[in-house]
Amino acid sequence: MKTGLDNIVVTQTMLSEVDGEKGRLIIRGFSVETLAEIDTFEEVAIRLWQGFTEKDDTVKFLAFELGKARLRAFELLPSFLDIASKLPFIEGLRLGLASLSDKDEMPHHYLLTGAIPVFLAGLIRSKKGLELIKPDTSLGQAADFLRMVNGIRVDKALEQALDKYLITISDHGMNASTFTARCIASTGAGLISAVIGAISALKGPLHGGAPGPVLDMLDEIATEDKIESWITQHLSSGNRLMGFGHRIYQVRDPRADVLKRAVSTLRSTGNKRLIFAEKVETAILTALAKHKPDRPLHTNVEFYTALLLEAIGLERDLFTPIFAMGRVIGWIAHVFEQEKTGRLIRPQSEYIGPRPIAQHAV
Ligand code: ACO
Repeated sequence: MKTGLDNIVVTQTMLSEVDGEKGRLIIRGFSVETLAEIDTFEEVAIRLWQGFTEKDDTVKFLAFELGKARLRAFELLPSFLDIASKLPFIEGLRLGLASLSDKDEMPHHYLLTGAIPVFLAGLIRSKKGLELIKPDTSLGQAADFLRMVNGIRVDKALEQALDKYLITISDHGMNASTFTARCIASTGAGLISAVIGAISALKGPLHGGAPGPVLDMLDEIATEDKIESWITQHLSSGNRLMGFGHRIYQVRDPRADVLKRAVSTLRSTGNKRLIFAEKVETAILTALAKHKPDRPLHTNVEFYTALLLEAIGLERDLFTPIFAMGRVIGWIAHVFEQEKTGRLIRPQSEYIGPRPIAQHAV
């Protein structure tokens, strides 16, 4: 029995492969590094959902459909915004998605993908008491999200950096939220329920909730002279250092490198935050190697996610919901794949509780 299901293969997939020993992530036949160079987020969505390899009218069609979906989501905002804007972002988003109806006539994969940026931008502006900004159907998801948050188009470099981030985290094998989505899909509950379940799994700090705490950690350490003592104190108290370690990767998470490159294009080489973060990273890797010599613990995607999203100007409690904005296309692709199998996921458990006392025959 493996309580965390480590190394247990539960399905076959055409979507992505995580090679933990080589530190490699393949999505639909491409390395994540290549996809982040050649595709937009919308193109990756088509690859995941349909497996296309040619860039053709399908991309324009999808961009059009996602634009329509964002408009539809914008109409739905008033139905839940009052309550949702009093909640943390991730809970507000979960509530917004729960307001979507299985009976909505718009194809649910477009609706869900379009709804997340609109609901998040609506929550951000509503919490600040600002007027809501209507989607612009001519823009891609990343550009329109930043426009709806800021009220104006932002620098193209920032839009591209967010687009790269969304691509980088779009799919990642059988992680906890994807497995959750597939379990729900296997019951026939439908795509909207599967995505709500996935987002609930993503919310946990051991899955998608680490980037905010990464920045808290950098803020707490604050200066170079405190790096060593901070690490020693936290490791000796048994704390986990956020942004490090991964169930599968035995070497560095390749997504961390893609994001590190993306963030470095946003900053001048003299940028203090990035240089400081690199110093903290190096010191933590050295300390973790001594602390757990038998368990390879390397930088994971969340470390550079934190720096990238901070550089784009997004608040840290938005990081997990923004992860969902990218990962939703992977969840959807897995639900499609799972539904095709038609097989209910139903593993076994081993009962270790007391047994009934034998009854006397009457
Ligand atoms: N800092 C310090 N110690 C760690 C860390 C860490 N980041 N990660 C693992 N360890 C230690 C554990 O405490 C454990 O020690 P023990 O054997 O004395 O109990 C040992 O290494 C093995 O840990 P496991 O829990 O078996 O490792 P697992 O594969 O379950 O953990 C996880 C993976 C949850 C990501 C873990 O490394 C962690 O908590 N990291 C910090 C949180 C984080 O960065 N999460 C984002 C992950 S990426 C993503 O989800 C997109």
